[in-house]
Amino acid sequence: MIKVGVLGAGTWGTALTIQLAKNGHEVTLWSAVAKEIDALSSDRKTIPNLPGAEMPEEVKLTTDLDEAVREKDLLVFAVASPFVRSVAAKLKDKIREGQIIVNVGKGIEEATLMTLTEVIGDELPQARVAVLSGPSHAEEVSRNIPTAIVVGSEDQKDAAFIQKAFMNDFFRIYTSNDVIGIELGGSLKNVIALAAGCVDGLGYGDNTKAALMTRGIAEICRLGVKMGGQPETFLGLSGVGDLIVTCTSTHSRNHNAGYLIGQGMTTKEAMDEVKQVVEGVFCAKAAKKLAEKYGVEMPIVDEVNKVLFEDKPAKESLVALFTRDAVSEYKK
Ligand SMILES: NC(=O)c1ccc[n+]([C@@H]2O[C@H](COP(=O)([O-])OP(=O)(O)OC[C@H]3O[C@@H](n4cnc5c(N)ncnc54)[C@H](O)[C@@H]3O)[C@@H](O)[C@H]2O)c1
Repeated sequence: MIKVGVLGAGTWGTALTIQLAKNGHEVTLWSAVAKEIDALSSDRKTIPNLPGAEMPEEVKLTTDLDEAVREKDLLVFAVASPFVRSVAAKLKDKIREGQIIVNVGKGIEEATLMTLTEVIGDELPQARVAVLSGPSHAEEVSRNIPTAIVVGSEDQKDAAFIQKAFMNDFFRIYTSNDVIGIELGGSLKNVIALAAGCVDGLGYGDNTKAALMTRGIAEICRLGVKMGGQPETFLGLSGVGDLIVTCTSTHSRNHNAGYLIGQGMTTKEAMDEVKQVVEGVFCAKAAKKLAEKYGVEMPIVDEVNKVLFEDKPAKESLVALFTRDAVSEYKK
Protein backbone atom coordinates (compact mmCIF):
# COMPACT_ATOMS: atom_id res chain seq x y z
CA MET A 1 0.00 0.00 0.00
CA ILE A 2 1.25 3.47 -0.84
CA LYS A 3 -0.18 6.95 -0.25
CA VAL A 4 -1.29 8.69 -3.44
CA GLY A 5 -2.56 12.22 -4.08
CA VAL A 6 -4.54 12.66 -7.29
CA LEU A 7 -4.77 16.29 -8.49
CA GLY A 8 -7.74 16.95 -10.76
CA ALA A 9 -11.17 15.37 -10.32
CA GLY A 10 -12.33 15.36 -13.92
CA THR A 11 -13.28 12.04 -15.44
CA TRP A 12 -9.65 10.88 -15.82
CA GLY A 13 -8.47 11.77 -12.31
CA THR A 14 -11.62 10.12 -10.97
CA ALA A 15 -11.23 6.91 -13.02
CA LEU A 16 -7.57 6.56 -11.97
CA THR A 17 -8.51 7.18 -8.33
CA ILE A 18 -10.99 4.29 -8.53
CA GLN A 19 -8.29 1.94 -9.90
CA LEU A 20 -5.69 3.06 -7.33
CA ALA A 21 -8.17 2.56 -4.48
CA LYS A 22 -9.09 -0.86 -5.87
CA ASN A 23 -5.39 -1.74 -5.75
CA GLY A 24 -5.44 -1.09 -2.00
CA HIS A 25 -3.69 2.30 -1.93
CA GLU A 26 -4.64 5.19 0.34
CA VAL A 27 -5.88 7.82 -2.13
CA THR A 28 -6.72 11.51 -1.68
CA LEU A 29 -8.49 13.14 -4.64
CA TRP A 30 -8.21 16.92 -4.98
CA SER A 31 -9.83 19.45 -7.27
CA ALA A 32 -9.62 23.22 -7.57
CA VAL A 33 -13.23 23.07 -8.68
CA ALA A 34 -15.30 22.80 -5.48
CA LYS A 35 -18.44 21.65 -7.26
CA GLU A 36 -16.59 18.53 -8.52
CA ILE A 37 -15.68 17.54 -4.96
CA ASP A 38 -19.18 18.42 -3.69
CA ALA A 39 -20.79 16.24 -6.35
CA LEU A 40 -18.53 13.25 -5.54
CA SER A 41 -18.99 13.72 -1.77
CA SER A 42 -22.77 13.98 -1.88
CA ASP A 43 -23.28 10.80 -3.92
CA ARG A 44 -20.45 8.30 -4.37
CA LYS A 45 -22.66 5.96 -6.36
CA THR A 46 -23.44 8.41 -9.18
CA ILE A 47 -20.37 9.99 -10.71
CA PRO A 48 -20.92 12.79 -13.26
CA ASN A 49 -19.99 11.59 -16.80
CA LEU A 50 -18.91 8.14 -15.54
CA PRO A 51 -22.07 6.00 -15.66
CA GLY A 52 -21.79 2.68 -13.83
CA ALA A 53 -18.79 3.77 -11.74
CA GLU A 54 -18.67 4.29 -7.96
CA MET A 55 -16.25 6.25 -5.80
CA PRO A 56 -14.91 3.93 -3.03
CA GLU A 57 -15.85 5.07 0.51
CA GLU A 58 -12.21 5.05 1.68
CA VAL A 59 -11.06 7.67 -0.87
CA LYS A 60 -10.54 11.09 0.76
CA LEU A 61 -12.05 13.95 -1.25
CA THR A 62 -10.69 17.46 -0.74
CA THR A 63 -10.25 20.97 -2.12
CA ASP A 64 -7.28 21.50 0.24
CA LEU A 65 -4.07 21.23 -1.79
CA ASP A 66 -1.92 20.76 1.34
CA GLU A 67 -3.94 17.74 2.37
CA ALA A 68 -3.71 16.28 -1.15
CA VAL A 69 0.09 16.41 -1.41
CA ARG A 70 1.31 16.04 2.20
CA GLU A 71 3.41 12.88 2.81
CA LYS A 72 2.41 11.17 -0.44
CA ASP A 73 4.53 8.48 -2.09
CA LEU A 74 3.11 9.37 -5.48
CA LEU A 75 1.33 12.41 -6.93
CA VAL A 76 -0.83 12.07 -10.03
CA PHE A 77 -1.33 15.22 -12.14
CA ALA A 78 -4.73 14.84 -13.84
CA VAL A 79 -5.37 18.54 -14.44
CA ALA A 80 -6.70 19.86 -17.77
CA SER A 81 -3.66 21.01 -19.76
CA PRO A 82 -4.28 24.79 -19.69
CA PHE A 83 -4.16 24.71 -15.85
CA VAL A 84 -1.16 22.44 -15.26
CA ARG A 85 1.35 25.28 -14.78
CA SER A 86 -0.84 27.25 -12.36
CA VAL A 87 -1.51 24.17 -10.22
CA ALA A 88 2.19 23.17 -10.26
CA ALA A 89 3.17 26.74 -9.30
CA LYS A 90 0.95 26.52 -6.20
CA LEU A 91 2.96 23.47 -5.11
CA LYS A 92 6.43 25.09 -5.21
CA ASP A 93 6.94 25.06 -1.45
CA LYS A 94 4.92 21.93 -0.74
CA ILE A 95 6.89 19.36 -2.74
CA ARG A 96 9.88 17.59 -1.21
CA GLU A 97 13.14 16.75 -3.03
CA GLY A 98 12.75 13.55 -5.09
CA GLN A 99 8.92 13.49 -4.93
CA ILE A 100 7.64 11.18 -7.68
CA ILE A 101 4.96 12.84 -9.82
CA VAL A 102 3.22 11.24 -12.79
CA ASN A 103 1.54 13.44 -15.36
CA VAL A 104 -1.51 11.79 -16.93
CA GLY A 105 -2.64 14.85 -18.91
CA LYS A 106 -2.09 15.45 -22.60
CA GLY A 107 -1.07 18.73 -24.17
CA ILE A 108 1.65 21.17 -25.13
CA GLU A 109 1.92 24.62 -23.59
CA GLU A 110 1.49 27.08 -26.44
CA ALA A 111 3.61 29.90 -25.01
CA THR A 112 6.68 27.75 -24.25
CA LEU A 113 6.10 24.69 -26.49
CA MET A 114 6.82 22.53 -23.44
CA THR A 115 5.12 19.19 -22.85
CA LEU A 116 3.14 18.94 -19.59
CA THR A 117 5.87 16.87 -17.93
CA GLU A 118 8.34 19.63 -18.82
CA VAL A 119 5.95 22.27 -17.46
CA ILE A 120 5.67 20.41 -14.14
CA GLY A 121 9.46 19.95 -14.03
CA ASP A 122 9.93 23.65 -14.79
CA GLU A 123 7.79 24.68 -11.81
CA LEU A 124 8.92 21.85 -9.53
CA PRO A 125 12.59 21.09 -10.31
CA GLN A 126 12.91 19.16 -7.04
CA ALA A 127 10.45 16.50 -8.30
CA ARG A 128 11.01 13.40 -10.46
CA VAL A 129 8.35 13.63 -13.17
CA ALA A 130 7.05 10.72 -15.29
CA VAL A 131 4.21 10.37 -17.79
CA LEU A 132 1.38 7.82 -18.07
CA SER A 133 -0.47 7.76 -21.37
CA GLY A 134 -2.15 5.60 -23.99
CA PRO A 135 -5.56 4.55 -25.32
CA SER A 136 -7.71 4.95 -22.22
CA HIS A 137 -11.14 6.50 -22.03
CA ALA A 138 -12.05 7.26 -18.42
CA GLU A 139 -15.58 5.99 -19.12
CA GLU A 140 -14.11 2.51 -19.73
CA VAL A 141 -11.28 2.45 -17.15
CA SER A 142 -13.77 3.42 -14.40
CA ARG A 143 -15.83 0.30 -15.27
CA ASN A 144 -12.85 -2.11 -15.40
CA ILE A 145 -12.93 -2.47 -19.18
CA PRO A 146 -9.53 -4.05 -20.00
CA THR A 147 -7.08 -1.29 -20.93
CA ALA A 148 -3.32 -1.11 -21.60
CA ILE A 149 -1.20 2.05 -21.34
CA VAL A 150 2.45 2.98 -20.88
CA VAL A 151 4.44 4.82 -18.20
CA GLY A 152 7.52 6.72 -19.33
CA SER A 153 10.33 7.85 -17.05
CA GLU A 154 14.01 8.57 -17.43
CA ASP A 155 14.47 6.47 -14.29
CA GLN A 156 13.30 2.89 -14.83
CA LYS A 157 12.95 2.37 -11.06
CA ASP A 158 10.37 5.17 -10.98
CA ALA A 159 8.63 3.67 -14.05
CA ALA A 160 8.43 0.27 -12.31
CA PHE A 161 7.12 1.90 -9.10
CA ILE A 162 4.32 3.66 -11.01
CA GLN A 163 3.58 0.53 -13.06
CA LYS A 164 3.11 -1.46 -9.83
CA ALA A 165 0.88 1.21 -8.28
CA PHE A 166 -1.61 1.24 -11.17
CA MET A 167 -1.46 -2.27 -12.61
CA ASN A 168 -4.19 -4.86 -11.95
CA ASP A 169 -6.01 -7.64 -13.81
CA PHE A 170 -7.90 -5.16 -16.02
CA PHE A 171 -5.37 -2.33 -16.20
CA ARG A 172 -2.11 -3.33 -17.85
CA ILE A 173 0.81 -0.89 -17.66
CA TYR A 174 3.96 -1.13 -19.77
CA THR A 175 7.16 0.82 -19.04
CA SER A 176 9.31 2.94 -21.35
CA ASN A 177 12.17 5.42 -21.12
CA ASP A 178 10.82 7.58 -23.98
CA VAL A 179 9.11 10.38 -22.05
CA ILE A 180 9.11 12.90 -24.93
CA GLY A 181 7.85 10.34 -27.47
CA ILE A 182 4.98 9.27 -25.20
CA GLU A 183 3.96 12.85 -24.50
CA LEU A 184 4.07 13.98 -28.12
CA GLY A 185 2.05 10.96 -29.28
CA GLY A 186 -0.62 11.58 -26.63
CA SER A 187 -0.87 15.32 -27.27
CA LEU A 188 -0.60 15.56 -31.04
CA LYS A 189 -3.14 12.83 -31.75
CA ASN A 190 -5.79 15.24 -30.45
CA VAL A 191 -5.11 17.49 -33.46
CA ILE A 192 -5.50 14.54 -35.84
CA ALA A 193 -8.70 13.55 -33.98
CA LEU A 194 -10.18 16.99 -34.75
CA ALA A 195 -9.43 16.35 -38.44
CA ALA A 196 -10.90 12.82 -38.25
CA GLY A 197 -14.04 14.29 -36.65
CA CYS A 198 -14.31 16.83 -39.48
CA VAL A 199 -14.13 14.00 -42.02
CA ASP A 200 -17.00 12.20 -40.25
CA GLY A 201 -18.97 15.45 -39.94
CA LEU A 202 -18.55 16.05 -43.66
CA GLY A 203 -20.02 12.60 -44.31
CA TYR A 204 -16.93 11.04 -45.89
CA GLY A 205 -16.10 7.36 -45.46
CA ASP A 206 -13.84 4.94 -43.60
CA ASN A 207 -11.23 5.18 -46.37
CA THR A 208 -10.89 8.92 -45.85
CA LYS A 209 -10.51 8.59 -42.09
CA ALA A 210 -7.99 5.76 -42.37
CA ALA A 211 -5.94 7.89 -44.78
CA LEU A 212 -6.01 10.82 -42.39
CA MET A 213 -5.07 8.72 -39.35
CA THR A 214 -2.20 7.00 -41.15
CA ARG A 215 -0.80 10.19 -42.61
CA GLY A 216 -1.43 11.83 -39.23
CA ILE A 217 0.78 9.38 -37.34
CA ALA A 218 3.41 9.84 -40.08
CA GLU A 219 3.42 13.60 -39.28
CA ILE A 220 3.55 12.97 -35.52
CA CYS A 221 6.41 10.50 -35.94
CA ARG A 222 8.40 12.90 -38.18
CA LEU A 223 8.18 15.66 -35.60
CA GLY A 224 8.59 13.36 -32.61
CA VAL A 225 11.80 11.79 -33.89
CA LYS A 226 13.23 15.25 -34.65
CA MET A 227 12.46 16.18 -31.04
CA GLY A 228 14.25 13.12 -29.66
CA GLY A 229 11.46 10.54 -29.49
CA GLN A 230 12.03 6.91 -30.48
CA PRO A 231 10.27 5.83 -33.73
CA GLU A 232 8.80 2.67 -32.14
CA THR A 233 7.00 4.76 -29.50
CA PHE A 234 4.79 6.20 -32.26
CA LEU A 235 3.80 2.66 -33.28
CA GLY A 236 3.00 1.86 -29.65
CA LEU A 237 0.20 2.47 -27.16
CA SER A 238 0.74 6.22 -26.86
CA GLY A 239 1.13 6.59 -30.66
CA VAL A 240 -0.99 4.49 -32.98
CA GLY A 241 -2.94 3.08 -30.01
CA ASP A 242 -4.12 6.44 -28.73
CA LEU A 243 -4.72 7.74 -32.25
CA ILE A 244 -7.06 4.82 -33.02
CA VAL A 245 -9.08 5.26 -29.85
CA THR A 246 -9.36 9.04 -30.18
CA CYS A 247 -10.26 9.11 -33.86
CA THR A 248 -12.85 6.34 -33.76
CA SER A 249 -14.71 6.73 -30.47
CA THR A 250 -17.76 8.71 -29.49
CA HIS A 251 -16.12 9.28 -26.07
CA SER A 252 -13.52 11.60 -27.66
CA ARG A 253 -14.26 15.27 -27.15
CA ASN A 254 -11.72 16.19 -29.84
CA HIS A 255 -13.37 13.93 -32.38
CA ASN A 256 -16.79 15.22 -31.33
CA ALA A 257 -15.71 18.87 -31.69
CA GLY A 258 -14.23 18.10 -35.13
CA TYR A 259 -17.47 16.39 -36.13
CA LEU A 260 -19.48 19.52 -35.27
CA ILE A 261 -17.00 21.73 -37.16
CA GLY A 262 -17.28 19.37 -40.16
CA GLN A 263 -21.03 19.87 -39.95
CA GLY A 264 -20.61 23.63 -40.19
CA MET A 265 -20.18 24.98 -36.64
CA THR A 266 -17.46 27.50 -35.81
CA THR A 267 -14.65 26.45 -33.45
CA LYS A 268 -16.23 28.39 -30.58
CA GLU A 269 -19.70 26.95 -31.19
CA ALA A 270 -18.26 23.42 -31.27
CA MET A 271 -16.25 23.97 -28.07
CA ASP A 272 -19.32 25.37 -26.30
CA GLU A 273 -21.40 22.41 -27.45
CA VAL A 274 -18.87 19.80 -26.27
CA LYS A 275 -18.79 21.53 -22.82
CA GLN A 276 -15.34 20.12 -21.87
CA VAL A 277 -11.84 21.46 -22.53
CA VAL A 278 -11.12 20.50 -26.18
CA GLU A 279 -7.37 20.15 -25.76
CA GLY A 280 -6.68 19.56 -29.47
CA VAL A 281 -7.71 23.15 -30.19
CA PHE A 282 -4.96 24.43 -27.86
CA CYS A 283 -2.50 21.82 -29.09
CA ALA A 284 -3.07 22.61 -32.78
CA LYS A 285 -1.38 26.03 -32.49
CA ALA A 286 1.51 24.56 -30.51
CA ALA A 287 1.93 21.74 -33.04
CA LYS A 288 2.16 24.25 -35.90
CA LYS A 289 4.80 26.26 -34.02
CA LEU A 290 6.78 23.07 -33.26
CA ALA A 291 6.63 22.04 -36.94
CA GLU A 292 8.05 25.45 -37.90
CA LYS A 293 10.68 25.37 -35.17
CA TYR A 294 11.95 21.90 -36.13
CA GLY A 295 11.48 22.37 -39.91
CA VAL A 296 9.07 19.43 -40.23
CA GLU A 297 6.34 19.23 -42.86
CA MET A 298 2.94 18.72 -41.17
CA PRO A 299 0.23 19.38 -43.77
CA ILE A 300 -2.67 17.99 -41.71
CA VAL A 301 -1.68 20.13 -38.72
CA ASP A 302 -1.50 23.18 -41.05
CA GLU A 303 -4.97 22.58 -42.45
CA VAL A 304 -6.47 21.93 -38.99
CA ASN A 305 -5.12 25.33 -37.92
CA LYS A 306 -6.69 27.00 -40.94
CA VAL A 307 -10.07 25.39 -40.20
CA LEU A 308 -9.92 26.21 -36.48
CA PHE A 309 -8.55 29.75 -36.57
CA GLU A 310 -9.04 31.13 -40.11
CA ASP A 311 -12.58 29.87 -40.75
CA LYS A 312 -11.47 27.82 -43.75
CA PRO A 313 -14.30 25.38 -44.57
CA ALA A 314 -13.27 21.82 -43.60
CA LYS A 315 -14.20 20.55 -47.05
CA GLU A 316 -11.74 22.95 -48.71
CA SER A 317 -9.02 21.78 -46.36
CA LEU A 318 -9.63 18.16 -47.26
CA VAL A 319 -9.44 19.04 -50.96
CA ALA A 320 -6.18 20.90 -50.29
CA LEU A 321 -4.71 17.81 -48.58
CA PHE A 322 -5.76 15.45 -51.36
CA THR A 323 -4.51 17.70 -54.17
CA ARG A 324 -1.00 18.28 -52.83
CA ASP A 325 1.90 17.38 -55.13
CA ALA A 326 2.20 13.66 -55.86
CA VAL A 327 4.91 12.17 -53.61
CA SER A 328 6.20 8.78 -52.46
CA GLU A 329 4.75 7.43 -49.19
CA TYR A 330 8.10 7.46 -47.36
CA LYS A 331 10.79 10.05 -47.87
CA LYS A 332 14.17 8.29 -47.80
N1 LIG B 1 -10.97 11.83 -19.93
C1 LIG B 1 -10.23 10.83 -20.37
O1 LIG B 1 -10.75 9.78 -20.73
C2 LIG B 1 -8.73 10.96 -20.40
C3 LIG B 1 -7.97 9.83 -20.63
C4 LIG B 1 -6.59 9.95 -20.68
C5 LIG B 1 -5.99 11.19 -20.48
N2 LIG B 1 -6.78 12.28 -20.27
C6 LIG B 1 -6.11 13.56 -20.04
O2 LIG B 1 -6.15 13.81 -18.66
C7 LIG B 1 -6.32 15.23 -18.40
C8 LIG B 1 -7.53 15.44 -17.56
O3 LIG B 1 -8.64 14.93 -18.28
P1 LIG B 1 -10.15 15.08 -17.80
O4 LIG B 1 -11.00 14.46 -18.83
O5 LIG B 1 -10.30 14.59 -16.42
O6 LIG B 1 -10.23 16.66 -17.95
P2 LIG B 1 -11.18 17.84 -17.51
O7 LIG B 1 -11.30 18.74 -18.66
O8 LIG B 1 -12.43 17.26 -16.94
O9 LIG B 1 -10.34 18.57 -16.39
C9 LIG B 1 -9.60 17.92 -15.40
C10 LIG B 1 -9.49 18.75 -14.19
O10 LIG B 1 -8.73 19.92 -14.37
C11 LIG B 1 -9.01 20.73 -13.26
N3 LIG B 1 -9.29 22.13 -13.60
C12 LIG B 1 -10.23 22.59 -14.45
N4 LIG B 1 -10.22 23.95 -14.43
C13 LIG B 1 -9.25 24.31 -13.54
C14 LIG B 1 -8.74 25.54 -13.08
N5 LIG B 1 -9.24 26.69 -13.51
N6 LIG B 1 -7.73 25.52 -12.18
C15 LIG B 1 -7.23 24.37 -11.73
N7 LIG B 1 -7.67 23.16 -12.14
C16 LIG B 1 -8.67 23.15 -13.02
C17 LIG B 1 -10.24 20.21 -12.57
O11 LIG B 1 -9.91 19.47 -11.43
C18 LIG B 1 -10.78 19.28 -13.63
O12 LIG B 1 -11.53 18.28 -13.08
C19 LIG B 1 -6.41 15.87 -19.78
O13 LIG B 1 -5.16 16.38 -20.15
C20 LIG B 1 -6.78 14.73 -20.71
O14 LIG B 1 -6.28 14.89 -22.02
C21 LIG B 1 -8.12 12.19 -20.21
